[in-house]
Amino acid sequence: MNAAIRAVTRIAEARNLQVVGFERGWEGLVTNESRSLTRRSVGGIIQLGGTILLTSRCPEFKRKEVVERAAKTLAKNKIDGLIVIGGNGSMHGALRLSRQTDTLIVGVPASIDNDVYGTDETIGFDTAVNTAVEEIDKIRDTAISHERIFIVEVMGRTRGFLASTVGITVGAEIILVPEQIYEEKGIFRILKQNTAKGKKSSIIVAAEGVGDTRKLARSIERNTGSEVRLSIVGYAQRGGSPTARSRILASLFAEKAVELLVDGQGSRVVGLQNGKITSIDLKESCEKEKPLDLSLLKLAKELAT
Ligand code: F6P
Repeated sequence: MNAAIRAVTRIAEARNLQVVGFERGWEGLVTNESRSLTRRSVGGIIQLGGTILLTSRCPEFKRKEVVERAAKTLAKNKIDGLIVIGGNGSMHGALRLSRQTDTLIVGVPASIDNDVYGTDETIGFDTAVNTAVEEIDKIRDTAISHERIFIVEVMGRTRGFLASTVGITVGAEIILVPEQIYEEKGIFRILKQNTAKGKKSSIIVAAEGVGDTRKLARSIERNTGSEVRLSIVGYAQRGGSPTARSRILASLFAEKAVELLVDGQGSRVVGLQNGKITSIDLKESCEKEKPLDLSLLKLAKELAT
């Protein structure tokens, strides 16, 4: 997100535009708290995780009167264009706000969940994938030497993009995602088959949204007779220095977002589609659900046997 803030500021300044950043996302827009952003004030942040502007969940932003307050802030500050950097929830907020204001709004997808329709990848996804992979590679060492089964829980309350990408990358024996209901019996069967084939350890990568992984660990232990451990990667996935890939994506998305605003085009979401930077309609992005490629799970299964 910092790489995006930096790029938006510098590209906009180069086009003779003045830039302000609202504090804590929607919250700052509702309470009219912002700071001026300049070429110099965004120096030295490209390598930092998180966001210098801070962020918040702001569930109140679902209420019309709260969105109206944000629209008033835009008018009061004479904001011509607003760039919303965030995930699926932020894009829905942007759509609600676009209905209450004349300010042009462009969304820049940034989320470790990779859950924004209209882009193959969101800013921060690659960073989160790499954080989880680094951790699970270490867990693999201990799984092998102790001959244990590990369940590693990664983030993703509703979507399994992170779990499936991480799972295939670490050679997980089983990947569990919220988009696909699993049966415990199926898991026991695969693990027993693995043991019969001579595999002495296995890794199950599960998205947090699949249910109670602690309970699942106990159940696998009871049914397979193997030792099972649970490891939760957790919030480390939402921080840390961004990968080169996340930084480039942030810079390209920012450039496209500023270009759209300068062109007078609002209610768009920028994205990466088949290697090209593009944009789609904000409403379409909110109305459609980005599909998870379940064939990745099939491939992961084949590769892990
Ligand atoms: O939005 C990204 C995400 O990391 C999800 O994967 C996760 O479910 C959620 O945020 C948890 O965030 P919080 O605890 O801040 O609500």
